Amino acid sequence: MLLVSGANGNLAKSVIANLLRMADAADILVMTRDPDSAHARDLAARGVTVRHGDFDAPETLGPAFAGATRALLISTYADNSERLRQNLAALEAAKAAGVRHVLYTSFLGAGPDHLSEHSQRVHWPTEQAITASGLGYTILRHALYAEILVGDLDDTLATGVLHRCGGTAACTYIARDDLGFSAATILAGGGYENRILNETMERSYTGDEVAEAIARCFGRPVRYESVAAEDWPAYMTEKWGLPPALAASTIGTMRAIEAGQFDLVSDDYRTVTGRRPLTLDEFLAGVRSARA
Ligand SMILES: NC(=O)c1ccc[n+]([C@@H]2O[C@H](COP(=O)([O-])OP(=O)(O)OC[C@H]3O[C@@H](n4cnc5c(N)ncnc54)[C@H](OP(=O)(O)O)[C@@H]3O)[C@@H](O)[C@H]2O)c1
Repeated sequence: MLLVSGANGNLAKSVIANLLRMADAADILVMTRDPDSAHARDLAARGVTVRHGDFDAPETLGPAFAGATRALLISTYADNSERLRQNLAALEAAKAAGVRHVLYTSFLGAGPDHLSEHSQRVHWPTEQAITASGLGYTILRHALYAEILVGDLDDTLATGVLHRCGGTAACTYIARDDLGFSAATILAGGGYENRILNETMERSYTGDEVAEAIARCFGRPVRYESVAAEDWPAYMTEKWGLPPALAASTIGTMRAIEAGQFDLVSDDYRTVTGRRPLTLDEFLAGVRSARA
């Protein structure tokens, strides 16, 4: 069976929706901390096996992974030290339950020297544990979600200012739904055994170029104003309501953008899916339609 963890998350929802078009519901198994959510109940009604599974509660994981042969482990959203522990618990449980191949949602450029704390402290050590586990694996190194650019869109359009970190550096993004499609494609279709894939749009964008694209799409003047990495957590807490401790862990990622560490373009997405990822203009057009 094909397993997706964290079924109630946004990426997971997209993976599962795509998976339902590629595989029989009877072959799909999902785990979540909340199997009673409306989404989880809807999946169960469609024939998907829904189980309680919490990376923080190892006793839930054996029963949750039982019967899975291929599993997509979706990285959690929590403090970095907790995230690594959670990932390692999930990997150990998957192996013990007989999973043969894991897919993991990592971060573009993950490595021991990456400036992003998420990469250094969570994704890179998780990748190392996966490659040492003896299981088959596919590491999906995701670019920054394009959704990050529109989390405060109302404010951007009202003030005409896009506040983002990065100075003059370019950065690659990708739409989360594109990532849902590619993860489902590999989970259902196999292949990409013991590979690391870099999933990005087919070009990178500077802050000025992002602001120009937003202005073009929404027909309003928008200019880019670079925010210092150190000031970003306070902005995220104010605009996104992100808890301060979690927001603080993004400083490294902002420094990495400034240093150009996310200016990395790959055609892996097209290779895997046979189609190109959305461009920034197409992604924004979708956001505009959804708001209409
Ligand atoms: N590349 C990027 O720019 C970027 C940006 C943001 C996040 N991310 C990463 O990508 C992941 C998916 O993004 P998203 O937008 O779907 O985030 P999201 O909607 O906030 O979902 C959070 C995910 O974490 C899971 N989770 C949280 N605690 C868990 C636990 N104790 N055990 C098992 N699962 C747990 C949730 O599953 P349930 O609620 O169903 O248990 C859910 O799938 C995030 O969690 C984060 O690691 C990447």
